[in-house]
This record gives sequence, structure tokens and C-alpha cells, in this order.
Amino acid sequence: MRVVLLSGSSHPALAASVAKVLSLELGRCLVDRFPDGELHVEVAEELRGCDVYVIQPLGPPVDSHLMELLLMVDACRRRGAGRVTAVVPYLAYARHDRRETGREPLAARVVADLIRVAGVDRLVAVDLHSPAVEGCFNIPVEHLSAMPLLADHLLRTAAPGSVVVSPDLGAVKRAERYAAQLKLPVAVVHKHRTSGSKVEARSITGDVKGCSPILVDDMISTAGTIEAAVNVLLEAGCTTEVTVVATHALLVGSALERLRKIPLRRLITTDSVPRPERLPFPVEVVSIAPLLARSIELLRLGSSGG
Ligand code: R5P
Repeated sequence: MRVVLLSGSSHPALAASVAKVLSLELGRCLVDRFPDGELHVEVAEELRGCDVYVIQPLGPPVDSHLMELLLMVDACRRRGAGRVTAVVPYLAYARHDRRETGREPLAARVVADLIRVAGVDRLVAVDLHSPAVEGCFNIPVEHLSAMPLLADHLLRTAAPGSVVVSPDLGAVKRAERYAAQLKLPVAVVHKHRTSGSKVEARSITGDVKGCSPILVDDMISTAGTIEAAVNVLLEAGCTTEVTVVATHALLVGSALERLRKIPLRRLITTDSVPRPERLPFPVEVVSIAPLLARSIELLRLGSSGG
């Protein structure tokens, strides 16, 4: 089957990098809006019988990017695509994979159903908020991880006397994976979320005094988690050489303000979502384009990259 790569409007630069690694051109498509705000999508590429990959991370504005993905996939189906894979390096709503209060929807499941019903055969995602999210999908999911790439980058640059820190209990397994690759000890911050943008960090498990913390998380949204964790680490005697590592740097709301307030030596992240142009702290970006390109290549050949 002929492979066609299409990019939505959420991250054309990443799609172009993936296309470059695969020595392919991006297929022609157009996304704009009607005056009333409705999206208008046109896929101009010939797709009959093709193996189509739609690259569209679901960073902010999340709902608009999701709707665009659904419309693009429907257009591909109606143009006779043989198989459609949604390449969604950052999957929004993945944090809503369970009902905390019993009064909420299972949003991750709703998004998974929408993606399937639109006509997606397979999903490629990177560092989902939790492995349980895969269970929301009734289609095959290639769950890739940028952690080995990020850890490899750290391995070459981590300061001696560092400690890997999980900023909450949910990220402990992730922190352990990094620590194993870096051969460093692990500490865990105990966090309590009081609202969508406010968190409190209360205590730490592990010895951090005199150590340089490397905080690892799947994502930074408002940076409330990181700010709270760093403050409690500094109180516990960590050095001010703070490194933060996260696959998805959404940096929304007061994230930049919060990160500016802490002694952040560097943020290490990927290009899974676009970042603001100028950031008031050093950023090191590891591209996931080769990871996505390899997964597409393996799927094209009929094997799994997971
Ligand atoms: C939570 O469980 C996630 O792993 C992140 O820690 C959280 O979503 C980050 O959000 P924020 O930056 O808004 O604190």
C-alpha cells in the first residue's frame, strides 16, 4: 500500500520532521474555519487504497485539535483510504481514565470511542498518562515511549550526586525506569491536588539532602505539580540545581510564571507539542520524529514497534 502522511494544524513542524526522516512529502490537505467557527477540512491527496497516517498531537486548543483529527480521518475514509492510523504523540483527556468522584464522565474512554468511530484503525501515542489508557481503546494502540531517549540525553549531562524525583505517587514507576537507566536513587514527593491548577506537596519519601533533583513526569501543564514539588525539595535540603524532565511540555496558564519562580537549571522535553517561542529558562529538546518515523515504518511493514 502507498504510504501517505497528513498533518493537521496542531504541529506541522513535527509532521514535517517525521516526513523528512521517512523521505516522504506531506500529503495535501487544508484546514480552515467557516465564519461561524465550524472547522472546514479538505484532503486533496489521492488516498484510494493508501496506508494513511494522520499526525495530530492533541495539545491546546485540545477540543479543536481533536475535532480536526476526527474530520480529517472521516475525509480520509470517504476518499477510500485503505487503512488510517492516527499518530497522536500527546493524547489529551488521558488523565481522565477513571472517575474520581463518581460524578464525572470517563473522558479518556469518550475520546477513544470518538477516534475509533471516526474511522481510525490504529493509534500511535507517546507516553500516555498511564498504561491503563490503552484499555479505553477498542483498536490497536502502539504505545511508544520517549523515556529511553530522554534518559539517554540525561545520562550524558546529569550532574554527579543527582536524585531522580517522582513529583507524585502516580509517576513512581516512571521515576524508577529513569533511575534504573541512570543508576541513580529515587525519591517520591507526596502531592495532593486541590483543583485543576493547584496542588500541594506535603512530604518526601527518600533521601534528598544535598542532592540535585531530576524531576520526571509525563507532562507539564500548569506546572503546579513541579512548583510544589521543587519547593518541598528545597525545604528538605536539595541543591538549587533543578532539572525537570517531561515528555509533553504543554506549559499552559501560569506555567511560565511558576517555572520562573523556581531555580530551574534546565527543562528537558520533546517536540511532542509545540512550545512557546521564547522561554525564560534553558530548554533542551529531544525530537521524537525518529521514534514516530520508525513506528510508521514498522507498521507499514506489518510489524509492531511497541
Ligand atoms: C498528573 O498526574 C500528571 O502526571 C502531571 O503531574 C500533571 O498533569 C501536571 O499538571 P500540572 O503541570 O498542571 O500540575
